[in-house]
Order: sequence, then structure tokens, then C-alpha cells
Amino acid sequence: MRDFEVRPTLHVSGTISVPGDKSISHRALMLSGLADGTSEVTGFLAGEDCLATLHAMRALGVRIEQPSATHVIIHGSGLHGLKGARRALDMGNAGTAMRLFTGLLAAQRFPSTLIGDASLMKRPMERVAKPLREMGADVRTHDGKPPVEISGARRLRGIDYTMPVPSAQVKSAILLAALYADGDTSVTSPAICRDHSERMLLSCGVQLTTVGLRTTLSPPQRLTSQRLNVPGDFSSAAFFIVAGLLGAGSDGLVIENVGLNPTRTGLLGILRSMGGDIEVTHARESGAEPVADLRVRASALKGVEVPKSLVPLAIDEFPVLFIAAACARGETVITGAEELRVKESDRIAAMSAGLRTLGVAHDVLPDGMRIEGRPDASALGGGRVDSHGDHRVAMSFTVASLRAAKPILIHDVANVATSFPGFVGLARSVGLDVTESEN
Ligand code: S3P
Repeated sequence: MRDFEVRPTLHVSGTISVPGDKSISHRALMLSGLADGTSEVTGFLAGEDCLATLHAMRALGVRIEQPSATHVIIHGSGLHGLKGARRALDMGNAGTAMRLFTGLLAAQRFPSTLIGDASLMKRPMERVAKPLREMGADVRTHDGKPPVEISGARRLRGIDYTMPVPSAQVKSAILLAALYADGDTSVTSPAICRDHSERMLLSCGVQLTTVGLRTTLSPPQRLTSQRLNVPGDFSSAAFFIVAGLLGAGSDGLVIENVGLNPTRTGLLGILRSMGGDIEVTHARESGAEPVADLRVRASALKGVEVPKSLVPLAIDEFPVLFIAAACARGETVITGAEELRVKESDRIAAMSAGLRTLGVAHDVLPDGMRIEGRPDASALGGGRVDSHGDHRVAMSFTVASLRAAKPILIHDVANVATSFPGFVGLARSVGLDVTESEN
């Protein structure tokens, strides 16, 4: 098992950039693999999750070169050019890969089996399997969980589907299957959720329209190849945004080249409503996605009630928001976030256990948390917290060291590599005192 030992520090500073966006990197491999011609992707996230997608695309017959860790060249097989894999496709820890491949493979002429690590094998798959069955696919789960077995060889039909939860993974799985269906497919979400698939499908020439919360796709004849520079992952930047708010000086901590897709940046609104000083500079477009640099200065945070409408727009950022809330004056209330219970870990339970160790007063709610923050330096204690194998839990407690009185030992951190290769080096470069050890 790998652990982090993080010693208390008070200040962070510097100019950094974070690795490429995980959601966009997965989609870049899949859609480029289905395109006609050669696609070139730079800024690719060479984290374990996206490498699972890369290996799976290769196993499905797509030729992919990787001249450097973050540079991939994909020789598309065409929409109908994938070939059946010889063995089960292993998605590792990657929920996005598992859900999106289920949609893509449900529409192929060959059978497939999808498996993952211990955490992924416990995650709900019926939310994807159900609409795919409505399209005519044969998708089997086990108690609603992986392994996912797909018989293939079914002709799919377009559907008009309303998702019970706002999930970009479910929406994307349906849209991938819809590429092969007879007739149009519409997906309606109960709330806004990330739209990277729609943006990239449009860039690849697919006819797709979004009106309000409803997206409709007309099956294309072909996808065009793409040249893409993946922006830095906002969800990875989030750890340094909160670190900057807790410990940056007046020059701030600068994070360059961060993807600011509005379906991802709920945390910015929440932290600003808490009093966070986050300046957006050099706003620009990179491909189909908005990108900018962020300058974050230390701020006196105050507790807030997080609007439920922002929950899907900040769904991956709650672990680190809980840390910000623990360091804010007064109470922060998060509700409507029951999806946190079915992420890489039960993030409400995992964060609650760690906050308890650090002496943070809080109540666990079925769908969120109420946290009583304390803004003073060294308000948090120290001790041993367990990440439960969850990368975002591990990185969040690293940031907590900016207000800790004693060292924090974070247990089981290997999965940080799923989304954030180089996290320890980057955290040290801004002034955090993190050491990784194997035991
Ligand atoms: C993702 C969507 C989100 C998010 C996950 C990545 C995606 O999941 O939590 O980390 O790339 O589509 P849901 O869509 O299931 O909420």
C-alpha cells in the first residue's frame, strides 16, 4: 500500500499547470478511434484511467501510437471498423471508461465483457444498461454491477430517454450507442451535466442538437478525425484552487491552461460565494472547449448553503470542497449530492471519517454533509486518514495540511495515479510538504 505523509505548511505559491482533462482524454480516444483518418491529441492525460481506455481501444483493433506520455496519434478504424477483443476488457478504476464503453460496445456486431478493479466492480451499471436495452441491446449486469456482458449482434433503434439522475456518463453511453441506431436518439437530463461528448461529437462532424436539457443525435455515416489539445483538468486544478485560497500570498497561486467548461465549474461559483478570490485571466477557446488561467489568492472563507442546482456542475469537487468548508467561518450545508455515495468510494462516508480524525465538527446527511468550519490557522488536527482507495479523497486531505496542527498520514493513495500523475511533485513545487512511501 502507498501512503502520503503530509506535514503542516502555511503557504503555497508559484505558477503551475495540471495534467490534461480526464473526461476529454477518454472521449478523444474513443471518438478518434471511430473516425476516418488519423487524429492527433496533445495534452492527453496519461493517468491510469485513460490508459485503460487506450489499451481497450487497442484491444478493439485501433492502432494508437504514443510518441510521448501526453501525445497520442490515433489511426481511426472508422465507425464500423472495431474488432472483438480476445479477452475481457479491463477498465481498472475508470467509471467513465466502463460506462462509455458499455454504450459503444452494445452497438457492435461482436460480444464483449467489461471488468474493473475492486472499486469499479461495486459501481452501479443498470443506469446505463437499462436505456441500452430499450434501444434493443443485450447487456447483462450482475446484481446491477460489473462484469458487464454484451452479446453484440443486435440492431439498435433510436430512443427518447429521460435519465433519472443527471449523469454525463449515462448520456454519453447512450449517444455512443445512438451513432449506430436506426433513427434519431434523444436524451434528456433532469439537470445540466457535463457536455464534453456533445462538443466533441459536433467537432467530429456528427449532427447533434441540444435544446435546453434535451440532446438529439442523428446517426452519422462517418466521423471526421480531429486535432485536439486537451486542456488542464478543472477537477485536478480544484485541489490547488482550494490550496491557494487557504495559503497563497498576495501574488496568488497561478494555475495555467485550465479547462473552464461551464458544465464543470460549479466549484468556482461555490468558492466565490464563500468569499474566495479567484481571478480568471487569458480566457480563450481550445478546440471546442473554453480554457483560461486562474490566479487564486488567500481568502477568508465563510460557510454557505450550496445550491442544489450546482451539485452536478461540481460533482467531482466535493471532497476538496469539504476541506474548504472545514476551514471556513461558520456552517456549510451540502444537500442533493447522494451521487457521492456511488463514486470511486462512498465519498460522504470516506470524507466524514477523515474529517472526524482531523477534529472537524460535522453531520453526515443521506445526501450530503453539514460542516461547522473553523477559519483559524492550525484549526485542523492531524492523524491517520484512509482514502478508501479514492484518488480525490487522498488529494483533498493533502490540501488540509495547510490548516493542520500535526502531520496527516493518508493511507492507500496509489489511485492518485488514475487521474493525477505527478501530483506529489506538483504539490511539493508549490510548497506542500508531501512524502510518498510504500509499506
Ligand atoms: C464523468 C462524469 C461524472 C463524473 C466522472 C466523469 C464523465 O460522472 O463524476 O468523474 O467523464 O462523463 P456522472 O456522469 O456519473 O455523474
